[in-house]
Amino acid sequence: MRIVDLRSDTVTLPTPAMRQAMFDAELGDDVMGEDPTVNRLEAMAAARLGKEAAVYVPSGTMANLVCLLSHCARGEEAIMGHMAHTFLFEAGGSAAVGGIHPRTVPNQPDGTLDLGDIEAAIRDPNNPHYPATRLICLENTHNRCSGAVLTPAYIARVRALADRYGLKIHLDGARIFNAATALGVTAAVVARDADSVSFCLSKGLSAPVGSLVCGSAEFVRQARRQRKVLGGGMRQAGVLAAAGIVALETMVDRLVDDHANARRLAEGLAPLPGVVLDPARIQTNIVIWELAPGAMLAAEFAADMAAHGVKVGLVGPRRIRAVTHYGIETDDVDRALAAAKEVLR
Ligand SMILES: Cc1ncc(COP(=O)(O)O)c(C=O)c1O
Repeated sequence: MRIVDLRSDTVTLPTPAMRQAMFDAELGDDVMGEDPTVNRLEAMAAARLGKEAAVYVPSGTMANLVCLLSHCARGEEAIMGHMAHTFLFEAGGSAAVGGIHPRTVPNQPDGTLDLGDIEAAIRDPNNPHYPATRLICLENTHNRCSGAVLTPAYIARVRALADRYGLKIHLDGARIFNAATALGVTAAVVARDADSVSFCLSKGLSAPVGSLVCGSAEFVRQARRQRKVLGGGMRQAGVLAAAGIVALETMVDRLVDDHANARRLAEGLAPLPGVVLDPARIQTNIVIWELAPGAMLAAEFAADMAAHGVKVGLVGPRRIRAVTHYGIETDDVDRALAAAKEVLR
């Protein structure tokens, strides 16, 4: 039985063109700045994001950590959403490694942080009781908010607030190309008002490994140093970066198909008994829904779906996540819907 794996867009496998590019890649020692393939990927990433420079790192988690370490010193504070990936799922790295104090404010269902909540969380720099606020972190698209998209207009308002208080903005853009696709703008427009941006090659773009940190030349110089501190300086990393170049060249334009499939999935799920889901809220490739009290639990649903050859993710006792990606076709969505109909009967 063919398995339809909707757990995450991180399960994507490299395309044949990526494997060939990895085989053919010209290599050097990247810690010495001599890997031509990594250098090309970093230049491409900076250009796509409209920033001066970029540095290649092994994962999205390291990308965010490198950025937080570059912006904040020990005992300083970073404001972020209570559902931010950085807060929930990065092993507390900024606190564990950097002594950075995370200050959470509520994420709204659309992934935003209320500007009033952000402002209320900014500390008085003259009061010695407080850690010093340095940074505001945003996430676009927002994973736990069902792939919600932050608009450039919203980020511009956060920028204006940050400027009033002399703060920096970090954008966790793990799925920034999904955001740009949904908005019909370039990734540079989405990244415009952020001081630093991280994005992943190994999610919807299907490369096997790697993320990029983008920002000013000076910021990236700092980030490169922090990457080394974390042990993320890789030598002939061009063998991996080669797949990332193919990802940027060939995998961005197809994200629109993932979004259409996610919408199809959401529209098919919404009328099923026990499903609490508004398909109009699905903007990109992540579909999160609730099973109402009285319906089965998420773990039972996932187990029954797996028996039908469909894998979904659990995000709470009654919450389920399904993610569309390269390798998931419209037929697969229809198979998942047929299975869900059986399971929720
Ligand atoms: C929004 C967001 N940021 C960061 C990451 C971390 O990426 P990685 O798993 O490559 O460390 C993820 C992973 O799912 C993510 O969804």
